[in-house]
Amino acid sequence: MTARDGREPVITIDGPAGAGKSTVGQRLAERLGYRFIDTGAMYRALALSVDAAGLSPDDDEARLRAHVARVDVRLEGGRLFLDGRDVTTEIRTPRISELTSRLTRLTAVREKITPLQRRAAALGGVVLEGRDTGTVVCPDAEVKFYLDATLDERARRRQAELRAQGVEADLAIVREEISRRDIQDTTRALAPLRKPDGAIEVDTSALTIDEVVERMLGEIVRRQRGGRRTATPRAGRR
Ligand code: DC
Repeated sequence: MTARDGREPVITIDGPAGAGKSTVGQRLAERLGYRFIDTGAMYRALALSVDAAGLSPDDDEARLRAHVARVDVRLEGGRLFLDGRDVTTEIRTPRISELTSRLTRLTAVREKITPLQRRAAALGGVVLEGRDTGTVVCPDAEVKFYLDATLDERARRRQAELRAQGVEADLAIVREEISRRDIQDTTRALAPLRKPDGAIEVDTSALTIDEVVERMLGEIVRRQRGGRRTATPRAGRR
């Protein structure tokens, strides 16, 4: 695979909520021995700090910009730190999901986080997962994936995820929430979710996580054959 300046490749994974990007991205990074960058988690950390400061997305943009300029968001060893505090678990509440979705529409917020993500990817050997990693953050990535699944399947997965957390949710309501998020993500003016140019599309609806990862590794190897430098998958963990 091409790594123009001798660095390890950059791999991006974009797609809608519930397509399996995070789980699959983590496993893919493990198999390749790459770092995994959950870009949504970085936005979530920023949302947590906005919330804690008593601010809201409806506030004056200059005020929000001044706040986010002071915030330190860091991904280290798979943990997310906000001003030095580990907030990996705290960012996964419905309140923060909702706030993050609204905040990510703002220029001040994207201008804060995008450069951090680019810096993290600059050395290569990374898998980035999110909504704009192959379109905006790293459009020159060596391999770009777009994961998708039917709305029904994504809703079922989300319901199962909630159940695992002890929350019983009605499937129709979960489906409606995901559908609303899809509309928000694909129609916003700034960095809308779309399939990046040259991205490999994988429909995960009828595939297990392992099958998706294997298919992606296969695509990476296929790209390598046409290229010069290789990323070497490690033996799968069973
Ligand atoms: O993937 P997630 O649910 O953790 O993402 C949280 C929110 O951030 C979601 O509303 C989509 C948004 N997001 C974004 O706008 N750009 C990204 N690169 C990643 C996530």
